[in-house]
Amino acid sequence: MIIESIEIKNVRNFESYDCEFTPGINLIYGKNGKGKTTILESIYSLSMGKSFKNSQRKSMINFEKDSFYIKGKIITDDNVKKTISVACLGDQHRITIDKKAITSILDLIDVFPVVVMAPENINLIDGSSVIRRKFYDRLFSIIDKQYLFSLKEYNKIIRQRKILLFEKNDEMIQLWSDKMAETGVVLWKKRKHFFQQFSKLFSASWSNELNGIETEIKYSPKSVESKNEFLHQLQQVKKQEILKRSNLYGPQKDDYLFLVNKAPARYFASQGEKKLLLTVLKNTECKFIEKYLGKPPVLLLDDLLAKLDNERGLKIMDMLRSNNQAIITSTDRSVMDILNQSWGKINTIHLD
Ligand SMILES: Nc1ncnc2c1ncn2[C@@H]1O[C@H](COP(=O)(O)OP(=O)(O)OP(=O)(O)O)[C@@H](O)[C@H]1O
Ligand SMILES: [Mg+2]
Repeated sequence: MIIESIEIKNVRNFESYDCEFTPGINLIYGKNGKGKTTILESIYSLSMGKSFKNSQRKSMINFEKDSFYIKGKIITDDNVKKTISVACLGDQHRITIDKKAITSILDLIDVFPVVVMAPENINLIDGSSVIRRKFYDRLFSIIDKQYLFSLKEYNKIIRQRKILLFEKNDEMIQLWSDKMAETGVVLWKKRKHFFQQFSKLFSASWSNELNGIETEIKYSPKSVESKNEFLHQLQQVKKQEILKRSNLYGPQKDDYLFLVNKAPARYFASQGEKKLLLTVLKNTECKFIEKYLGKPPVLLLDDLLAKLDNERGLKIMDMLRSNNQAIITSTDRSVMDILNQSWGKINTIHLD
Protein backbone atom coordinates (compact mmCIF):
# COMPACT_ATOMS: atom_id res chain seq x y z
CA MET A 1 0.00 0.00 0.00
CA ILE A 2 1.30 3.44 -0.88
CA ILE A 3 0.16 7.04 -0.85
CA GLU A 4 0.09 8.41 -4.37
CA SER A 5 -0.69 12.07 -3.77
CA ILE A 6 -1.85 14.57 -1.20
CA GLU A 7 -3.74 17.85 -1.36
CA ILE A 8 -3.75 20.20 1.59
CA LYS A 9 -5.66 23.40 2.20
CA ASN A 10 -5.02 25.85 5.05
CA VAL A 11 -2.80 23.48 7.06
CA ARG A 12 -0.23 25.49 9.08
CA ASN A 13 1.89 27.60 6.66
CA PHE A 14 0.25 26.16 3.52
CA GLU A 15 -2.75 27.85 2.00
CA SER A 16 -2.93 25.35 -0.80
CA TYR A 17 -0.38 22.69 -1.64
CA ASP A 18 -0.31 19.37 -3.44
CA CYS A 19 2.37 16.84 -4.30
CA GLU A 20 2.84 13.33 -5.57
CA PHE A 21 4.78 10.41 -4.13
CA THR A 22 6.32 7.30 -5.63
CA PRO A 23 6.80 3.79 -4.21
CA GLY A 24 10.15 3.37 -2.40
CA ILE A 25 12.01 6.33 -0.94
CA ASN A 26 10.72 9.91 -1.27
CA LEU A 27 12.70 12.87 0.02
CA ILE A 28 11.20 16.17 1.10
CA TYR A 29 13.93 18.71 1.14
CA GLY A 30 13.76 22.35 2.26
CA LYS A 31 15.02 24.96 4.69
CA ASN A 32 13.69 25.36 8.24
CA GLY A 33 10.07 26.43 8.45
CA LYS A 34 9.18 25.57 4.84
CA GLY A 35 6.56 22.99 5.81
CA LYS A 36 8.32 19.61 5.67
CA THR A 37 6.92 18.39 8.99
CA THR A 38 3.52 19.80 8.01
CA ILE A 39 3.39 17.50 4.97
CA LEU A 40 4.19 14.48 7.18
CA GLU A 41 1.60 15.60 9.74
CA SER A 42 -0.97 15.82 6.96
CA ILE A 43 -0.20 12.29 5.74
CA TYR A 44 -0.31 11.01 9.32
CA SER A 45 -3.75 12.62 9.78
CA LEU A 46 -5.05 10.45 6.96
CA SER A 47 -4.14 7.38 9.06
CA MET A 48 -4.78 8.52 12.63
CA GLY A 49 -7.27 11.34 12.10
CA LYS A 50 -4.99 13.84 13.86
CA SER A 51 -1.43 15.17 14.08
CA PHE A 52 1.48 13.44 15.81
CA LYS A 53 2.67 16.79 17.17
CA ASN A 54 -0.43 17.87 19.00
CA SER A 55 -3.57 15.85 19.62
CA GLN A 56 -5.63 19.05 19.17
CA ARG A 57 -6.62 18.69 15.54
CA LYS A 58 -7.53 22.36 15.21
CA SER A 59 -3.96 23.45 16.03
CA MET A 60 -3.15 22.52 12.41
CA ILE A 61 -5.52 25.16 11.02
CA ASN A 62 -3.65 28.07 9.46
CA PHE A 63 -3.70 31.04 11.88
CA GLU A 64 -5.60 33.20 9.39
CA LYS A 65 -8.30 30.63 8.59
CA ASP A 66 -11.01 28.75 10.44
CA SER A 67 -10.83 25.33 8.77
CA PHE A 68 -8.47 22.92 7.01
CA TYR A 69 -8.89 20.13 4.49
CA ILE A 70 -6.57 17.24 3.62
CA LYS A 71 -7.17 14.71 0.86
CA GLY A 72 -4.92 11.75 0.07
CA LYS A 73 -5.09 9.16 -2.67
CA ILE A 74 -3.81 5.73 -1.74
CA ILE A 75 -3.34 2.53 -3.69
CA THR A 76 -3.88 -0.71 -1.81
CA ASP A 77 -1.77 -3.83 -2.32
CA ASP A 78 -4.55 -5.23 -4.53
CA ASN A 79 -4.20 -2.12 -6.71
CA VAL A 80 -7.46 -0.55 -5.54
CA LYS A 81 -7.49 3.25 -5.37
CA LYS A 82 -9.01 4.86 -2.29
CA THR A 83 -9.44 8.49 -1.30
CA ILE A 84 -9.21 9.52 2.36
CA SER A 85 -10.14 13.00 3.51
CA VAL A 86 -9.92 14.84 6.82
CA ALA A 87 -11.76 18.13 7.23
CA CYS A 88 -11.68 20.25 10.35
CA LEU A 89 -13.76 23.31 11.12
CA GLY A 90 -13.07 24.67 14.60
CA ASP A 91 -13.90 21.84 17.01
CA GLN A 92 -15.80 19.83 14.40
CA HIS A 93 -14.28 17.32 12.04
CA ARG A 94 -15.24 14.82 9.36
CA ILE A 95 -13.12 11.91 8.14
CA THR A 96 -14.11 9.93 5.06
CA ILE A 97 -12.91 6.98 3.02
CA ASP A 98 -14.24 7.16 -0.54
CA LYS A 99 -16.67 9.85 0.62
CA LYS A 100 -18.16 7.62 3.37
CA ALA A 101 -17.72 8.91 6.95
CA ILE A 102 -15.84 6.51 9.21
CA THR A 103 -17.08 5.57 12.67
CA SER A 104 -13.83 4.53 14.34
CA ILE A 105 -10.19 5.54 13.88
CA LEU A 106 -9.31 1.84 13.88
CA ASP A 107 -11.13 1.59 10.50
CA LEU A 108 -8.79 4.24 9.16
CA ILE A 109 -5.60 2.58 10.45
CA ASP A 110 -6.79 -0.68 8.96
CA VAL A 111 -7.00 0.88 5.50
CA PHE A 112 -3.96 3.16 5.68
CA PRO A 113 -1.42 2.29 8.40
CA VAL A 114 1.51 4.68 8.83
CA VAL A 115 4.48 4.72 11.17
CA VAL A 116 6.05 8.06 12.05
CA MET A 117 9.40 9.00 13.51
CA ALA A 118 9.68 12.59 14.75
CA PRO A 119 12.76 14.09 16.45
CA GLU A 120 10.93 14.22 19.81
CA ASN A 121 10.49 10.42 19.67
CA ILE A 122 14.07 10.12 20.89
CA ASN A 123 12.44 10.09 24.34
CA LEU A 124 11.41 6.52 23.51
CA ILE A 125 15.07 5.66 24.00
CA ASP A 126 16.12 8.05 26.77
CA GLY A 127 12.82 8.97 28.45
CA SER A 128 10.90 7.25 31.23
CA SER A 129 9.44 3.75 31.10
CA VAL A 130 5.92 5.20 30.66
CA ILE A 131 6.81 6.35 27.13
CA ARG A 132 8.10 2.91 26.09
CA ARG A 133 5.06 1.17 27.62
CA LYS A 134 2.77 3.50 25.66
CA PHE A 135 4.69 2.76 22.44
CA TYR A 136 4.31 -1.01 22.76
CA ASP A 137 0.74 -0.75 24.11
CA ARG A 138 -0.31 1.29 21.08
CA LEU A 139 1.42 -1.09 18.71
CA PHE A 140 -0.05 -4.25 20.26
CA SER A 141 -3.49 -2.59 20.36
CA ILE A 142 -3.38 -1.87 16.62
CA ILE A 143 -2.73 -5.48 15.74
CA ASP A 144 -4.89 -7.15 18.42
CA LYS A 145 -8.27 -5.70 19.44
CA GLN A 146 -8.38 -8.15 22.38
CA TYR A 147 -5.15 -6.61 23.69
CA LEU A 148 -6.72 -3.14 23.50
CA PHE A 149 -9.79 -4.42 25.34
CA SER A 150 -7.72 -6.06 28.14
CA LEU A 151 -5.53 -2.98 28.47
CA LYS A 152 -8.49 -0.62 28.83
CA GLU A 153 -10.07 -3.00 31.33
CA TYR A 154 -6.85 -3.31 33.35
CA ASN A 155 -6.33 0.46 33.48
CA LYS A 156 -9.88 0.90 34.71
CA ILE A 157 -9.31 -1.72 37.42
CA ILE A 158 -6.09 -0.18 38.73
CA ARG A 159 -7.65 3.29 38.82
CA GLN A 160 -10.53 1.94 40.89
CA ARG A 161 -8.22 -0.11 43.12
CA LYS A 162 -6.08 2.95 43.84
CA ILE A 163 -9.15 4.74 45.22
CA LEU A 164 -9.90 1.71 47.41
CA LEU A 165 -6.29 1.63 48.68
CA PHE A 166 -6.74 5.25 49.64
CA GLU A 167 -9.96 4.40 51.50
CA LYS A 168 -8.35 1.28 53.05
CA ASN A 169 -11.45 -0.69 52.14
CA ASP A 170 -10.16 -4.24 52.70
CA GLU A 171 -13.09 -6.21 51.38
CA MET A 172 -13.36 -4.19 48.19
CA ILE A 173 -9.58 -4.22 47.67
CA GLN A 174 -9.73 -8.01 47.68
CA LEU A 175 -12.53 -8.03 45.13
CA TRP A 176 -10.64 -5.72 42.77
CA SER A 177 -7.35 -7.57 43.34
CA ASP A 178 -9.10 -10.58 41.93
CA LYS A 179 -10.13 -8.73 38.74
CA MET A 180 -6.66 -7.18 38.51
CA ALA A 181 -4.94 -10.58 38.72
CA GLU A 182 -7.17 -12.08 36.07
CA THR A 183 -6.62 -9.31 33.50
CA GLY A 184 -2.98 -8.74 34.51
CA VAL A 185 -2.03 -12.31 33.63
CA VAL A 186 -3.70 -11.99 30.21
CA LEU A 187 -1.80 -8.77 29.47
CA TRP A 188 1.55 -10.26 30.45
CA LYS A 189 0.99 -13.31 28.30
CA LYS A 190 0.18 -11.18 25.25
CA ARG A 191 3.00 -8.69 25.87
CA LYS A 192 5.56 -11.50 26.13
CA HIS A 193 4.35 -13.16 22.97
CA PHE A 194 4.21 -9.98 20.88
CA PHE A 195 7.50 -8.67 22.23
CA GLN A 196 9.25 -11.88 21.30
CA GLN A 197 8.02 -11.49 17.71
CA PHE A 198 8.98 -7.81 17.68
CA SER A 199 12.43 -8.59 19.04
CA LYS A 200 13.10 -11.14 16.28
CA LEU A 201 12.25 -8.56 13.61
CA PHE A 202 14.39 -5.95 15.36
CA SER A 203 17.45 -8.23 15.45
CA ALA A 204 17.00 -8.99 11.76
CA SER A 205 16.97 -5.27 10.86
CA TRP A 206 19.92 -4.44 13.05
CA SER A 207 22.42 -7.15 12.24
CA ASN A 208 21.83 -6.77 8.52
CA GLU A 209 22.83 -3.19 8.26
CA LEU A 210 24.56 -1.60 11.14
CA ASN A 211 27.59 -3.52 12.23
CA GLY A 212 30.02 -2.01 14.67
CA ILE A 213 27.55 -1.48 17.50
CA GLU A 214 26.01 -4.29 19.46
CA THR A 215 22.43 -3.72 20.50
CA GLU A 216 19.55 -5.50 22.16
CA ILE A 217 15.98 -4.75 23.15
CA LYS A 218 14.76 -6.38 26.32
CA TYR A 219 11.54 -7.03 28.17
CA SER A 220 11.81 -8.87 31.49
CA PRO A 221 8.71 -8.17 33.56
CA LYS A 222 8.30 -9.39 37.12
CA SER A 223 5.48 -11.48 35.74
CA VAL A 224 3.71 -14.62 36.92
CA GLU A 225 1.84 -17.23 34.94
CA SER A 226 -1.35 -17.67 36.95
CA LYS A 227 -3.99 -15.62 38.71
CA ASN A 228 -3.21 -17.30 42.04
CA GLU A 229 0.48 -16.44 41.80
CA PHE A 230 -0.50 -12.84 40.99
CA LEU A 231 -2.77 -12.72 44.06
CA HIS A 232 0.06 -14.14 46.17
CA GLN A 233 2.39 -11.36 44.98
CA LEU A 234 -0.27 -8.75 45.77
CA GLN A 235 -0.54 -10.19 49.28
CA GLN A 236 3.22 -9.65 49.73
CA VAL A 237 3.00 -5.93 48.94
CA LYS A 238 -0.39 -5.22 50.49
CA LYS A 239 0.87 -3.31 53.54
CA GLN A 240 3.16 -1.16 51.42
CA GLU A 241 0.39 -0.51 48.90
CA ILE A 242 -1.92 0.81 51.60
CA LEU A 243 0.90 2.90 53.03
CA LYS A 244 1.79 4.39 49.65
CA ARG A 245 -1.82 4.39 48.38
CA SER A 246 -0.60 3.01 45.11
CA ASN A 247 -0.70 -0.21 43.00
CA LEU A 248 2.82 -1.58 43.41
CA TYR A 249 2.72 -4.85 41.49
CA GLY A 250 1.55 -5.70 37.98
CA PRO A 251 2.02 -4.96 34.26
CA GLN A 252 1.75 -1.19 34.89
CA LYS A 253 5.29 -1.46 36.33
CA ASP A 254 6.82 -3.08 33.22
CA ASP A 255 9.72 -1.53 31.36
CA TYR A 256 11.20 -2.30 27.96
CA LEU A 257 14.93 -1.65 27.66
CA PHE A 258 17.37 -0.72 24.92
CA LEU A 259 20.97 -1.78 25.32
CA VAL A 260 23.89 -0.46 23.28
CA ASN A 261 27.12 -2.42 23.72
CA LYS A 262 25.42 -4.10 26.71
CA ALA A 263 24.85 -0.79 28.57
CA PRO A 264 21.41 0.87 28.93
CA ALA A 265 21.05 3.19 25.92
CA ARG A 266 19.05 5.59 28.06
CA TYR A 267 22.15 6.57 30.02
CA PHE A 268 25.13 5.66 27.83
CA ALA A 269 24.30 5.87 24.12
CA SER A 270 25.52 8.85 22.09
CA GLN A 271 23.06 11.13 20.25
CA GLY A 272 23.80 9.41 16.94
CA GLU A 273 23.49 5.94 18.46
CA LYS A 274 20.11 6.86 19.94
CA LYS A 275 18.96 8.12 16.55
CA LEU A 276 20.15 4.91 14.91
CA LEU A 277 18.32 2.82 17.49
CA LEU A 278 15.14 4.85 17.06
CA THR A 279 15.23 4.51 13.27
CA VAL A 280 15.68 0.75 13.46
CA LEU A 281 12.88 0.61 16.04
CA LYS A 282 10.53 2.46 13.68
CA ASN A 283 11.58 0.28 10.77
CA THR A 284 10.80 -2.75 12.93
CA GLU A 285 7.42 -1.23 13.84
CA CYS A 286 6.63 -1.23 10.10
CA LYS A 287 7.65 -4.86 9.65
CA PHE A 288 5.66 -5.85 12.75
CA ILE A 289 2.48 -4.13 11.56
CA GLU A 290 2.95 -5.69 8.12
CA LYS A 291 3.30 -9.14 9.70
CA TYR A 292 0.04 -8.85 11.65
CA LEU A 293 -2.17 -6.58 9.51
CA GLY A 294 -0.90 -8.01 6.25
CA LYS A 295 -0.21 -4.50 4.89
CA PRO A 296 3.10 -2.66 4.83
CA PRO A 297 2.65 0.78 6.48
CA VAL A 298 4.03 3.97 4.96
CA LEU A 299 7.04 5.08 6.97
CA LEU A 300 7.33 8.81 7.71
CA LEU A 301 10.73 9.94 8.96
CA ASP A 302 11.00 13.55 10.03
CA ASP A 303 14.50 15.02 10.05
CA LEU A 304 16.00 11.57 9.65
CA LEU A 305 19.55 12.58 8.88
CA ALA A 306 20.12 15.07 11.70
CA LYS A 307 22.77 13.74 14.12
CA LEU A 308 23.80 10.88 11.80
CA ASP A 309 27.16 10.95 10.06
CA ASN A 310 27.04 10.43 6.28
CA GLU A 311 28.20 6.81 6.50
CA ARG A 312 25.44 5.89 8.98
CA GLY A 313 22.93 7.99 7.07
CA LEU A 314 23.60 5.98 3.93
CA LYS A 315 23.40 2.64 5.76
CA ILE A 316 20.08 3.67 7.26
CA MET A 317 18.77 4.70 3.85
CA ASP A 318 19.82 1.33 2.51
CA MET A 319 17.88 -0.42 5.28
CA LEU A 320 14.80 1.70 4.52
CA ARG A 321 14.85 0.63 0.89
CA SER A 322 13.23 -2.65 1.89
CA ASN A 323 10.05 -0.74 2.80
CA ASN A 324 7.23 -0.32 0.35
CA GLN A 325 7.25 3.43 0.78
CA ALA A 326 9.19 5.80 3.02
CA ILE A 327 8.85 9.59 3.07
CA ILE A 328 11.83 11.35 4.56
CA THR A 329 12.41 15.02 5.36
CA SER A 330 15.75 16.72 5.57
CA THR A 331 17.40 20.13 5.46
CA ASP A 332 20.67 18.56 4.35
CA ARG A 333 21.27 17.95 0.66
CA SER A 334 24.54 16.02 0.89
CA VAL A 335 23.26 12.49 1.58
CA MET A 336 20.55 12.95 -1.02
CA ASP A 337 23.07 13.99 -3.63
CA ILE A 338 25.14 10.87 -2.87
CA LEU A 339 22.02 8.70 -3.05
CA ASN A 340 20.90 10.19 -6.34
CA GLN A 341 24.34 9.39 -7.73
CA SER A 342 24.55 5.81 -6.45
CA TRP A 343 20.92 4.65 -6.76
CA GLY A 344 19.76 6.71 -9.68
CA LYS A 345 17.03 9.31 -9.40
CA ILE A 346 14.79 9.14 -6.33
CA ASN A 347 11.62 11.19 -5.96
CA THR A 348 12.63 14.50 -4.40
CA ILE A 349 10.15 17.16 -3.36
CA HIS A 350 11.85 20.50 -3.00
CA LEU A 351 10.07 23.15 -0.89
CA ASP A 352 11.15 26.65 -1.89
N1 LIG B 1 -1.27 27.00 12.75
C1 LIG B 1 -0.31 27.57 12.00
N2 LIG B 1 -0.63 28.54 11.10
C2 LIG B 1 0.32 29.11 10.33
N3 LIG B 1 1.62 28.77 10.36
C3 LIG B 1 1.99 27.81 11.25
C4 LIG B 1 1.05 27.16 12.11
N4 LIG B 1 1.71 26.26 12.86
C5 LIG B 1 3.00 26.32 12.50
N5 LIG B 1 3.19 27.25 11.53
C6 LIG B 1 4.43 27.62 10.80
O1 LIG B 1 4.50 26.77 9.68
C7 LIG B 1 5.84 26.70 9.22
C8 LIG B 1 6.17 25.29 8.78
O2 LIG B 1 6.38 24.47 9.90
P1 LIG B 1 7.06 23.04 9.76
O3 LIG B 1 7.24 22.53 11.15
O4 LIG B 1 6.27 22.21 8.82
O5 LIG B 1 8.47 23.40 9.09
P2 LIG B 1 9.68 22.45 8.69
O6 LIG B 1 9.94 22.62 7.24
O7 LIG B 1 9.44 21.09 9.20
O8 LIG B 1 10.89 23.16 9.49
P3 LIG B 1 12.16 22.52 10.28
O9 LIG B 1 13.21 22.23 9.25
O10 LIG B 1 12.58 23.63 11.16
O11 LIG B 1 11.70 21.32 11.01
C9 LIG B 1 6.69 27.26 10.36
O12 LIG B 1 7.14 28.55 9.98
C10 LIG B 1 5.71 27.36 11.53
O13 LIG B 1 6.04 28.41 12.41
MG1 LIG C 1 10.28 19.99 10.69
